Amino acid sequence: MSTVFGRGIGLVLVLLASLLMPTGGRAEPIGGPFALTGPDGRVVRDADFRGQWLLVYFGYISCPDVCPTDLQRISEAMAALGPAAERVVPLFITLDPRRDIPERLAEYVKLFHPRMVGLAGTEAETDEVAKRYRVRFVRNPPDKNGFYGVDHTTNIYLIAPNGRFVEWYKMAVPGLGIAEAIRRQMARAQRE
Ligand code: NI
Repeated sequence: MSTVFGRGIGLVLVLLASLLMPTGGRAEPIGGPFALTGPDGRVVRDADFRGQWLLVYFGYISCPDVCPTDLQRISEAMAALGPAAERVVPLFITLDPRRDIPERLAEYVKLFHPRMVGLAGTEAETDEVAKRYRVRFVRNPPDKNGFYGVDHTTNIYLIAPNGRFVEWYKMAVPGLGIAEAIRRQMARAQRE
């Protein structure tokens, strides 16, 4: 009896997991509207990018290795896309707006792609956007030198020209794989 019961629970868990799948479309949509601060302090909204594909990543400048590695993957994907990359804008949204002021962000993102846009907000604004993208993160307490790290999930999100979330790329997907996936989505969007 307990086995059957256990299996039942397992099935419920699988069903729950499928409901939470990003591309299932049944759960609340991922992403959505935002208004954040761009380079030079102007307000940047998601709607400003309609008509272009977005690659969205959340992280922070002082991240020792994860963010640079992931931004490098974006950089590689953009290079592999060739001319199609002109239709893609990479966005880097900081989870650490206290330290990552727009000027610093603008400098940082340039290291990875000339058209990458660094976005900041207040902590409340950042938290809200992160929540909509289902980014999980923790701002750790500062050490005795005042340094703190921010643990965070590392998905790279693809947003279609109509502003809808399409899919995300996990850490295991290399830059070339991301480029291939984006090409597939572009071709698919053209057929629709
Ligand atoms: Ni990071």
